[in-house]
Amino acid sequence: MNFQNDLLKLINVSKSYVSETETVAPLKDINMDIYEGQFIAIVGRSGSGKTTLLNVMAGLDKPTSGEVLLHGTNIALMDENSLTEVRRNKIGFIFQSFGLLPLLSAFENVELPLRISGVGHSERSEKTNNALEMVGLLPRSNHRPYELSGGEQQRVSIARAIVGSPPLILADEPTGELDSNNAKSIFGLFKDMVVTQGMTIIAATHDSSLLSMADQVKEIRDGSLYAASTSELRYR
Ligand SMILES: Nc1ncnc2c1ncn2[C@@H]1O[C@H](COP(=O)(O)OP(=O)(O)OP(=O)(O)O)[C@@H](O)[C@H]1O
Ligand SMILES: [Mg+2]
Repeated sequence: MNFQNDLLKLINVSKSYVSETETVAPLKDINMDIYEGQFIAIVGRSGSGKTTLLNVMAGLDKPTSGEVLLHGTNIALMDENSLTEVRRNKIGFIFQSFGLLPLLSAFENVELPLRISGVGHSERSEKTNNALEMVGLLPRSNHRPYELSGGEQQRVSIARAIVGSPPLILADEPTGELDSNNAKSIFGLFKDMVVTQGMTIIAATHDSSLLSMADQVKEIRDGSLYAASTSELRYR
């Protein structure tokens, strides 16, 4: 089901990093129109700007110029407090490096966004258990990140991103640490959320099975975005 409602729009978004010795410009005048219920894969060589693009979309990083409209509001102009609020309600982010809190158990890590949003205890437990079950990690709920494998930590970070059912999930290499069976089941889960809940997922990935499930594949090359086909996998 695709209602084609505007969710995220990037208008002439550029990002450059300037240091004394060089300027790196991973994003040059990027334009994108993203609707509810889309599953978009972003590919590109290492260092091409995938993480930068996702960070800018999430308001974790400010563009050097351009607009990032989330439900029509330019988040590039927001202050940190408003941004935090937007991220809490509208965006689930799966970090390339997981970003789990080391002293919290898997359950507590997944539960945290709900706790911060003030969701009541019983609803919190139910949603947290559901999310952990969806990624197949319920039996490991009480373990802390250092007691979990890389793939298990990745699944905790996926559960944390989906627990509040945000309209937008931004995923940076969400299956980089997973074996092909686990990766397939995570992609199946993503596809399901897109189809049944109208969620939008934008995922940076090298994984060919994720690419084949995406509605669109975009490649970042030399700072620009190009439509790519799933057969053009030549990274890594
Ligand atoms: N904070 C920063 N300061 C300076 N340069 C940066 C910064 N963050 C990223 N870059 C540079 O911007 C470019 C894009 O980096 P980015 O992390 O977005 O690439 P990527 O496509 O995600 O790569 P990978 O596949 O290795 O994760 C790289 O050249 C990187 O060195
Ligand atoms: Mg990256």
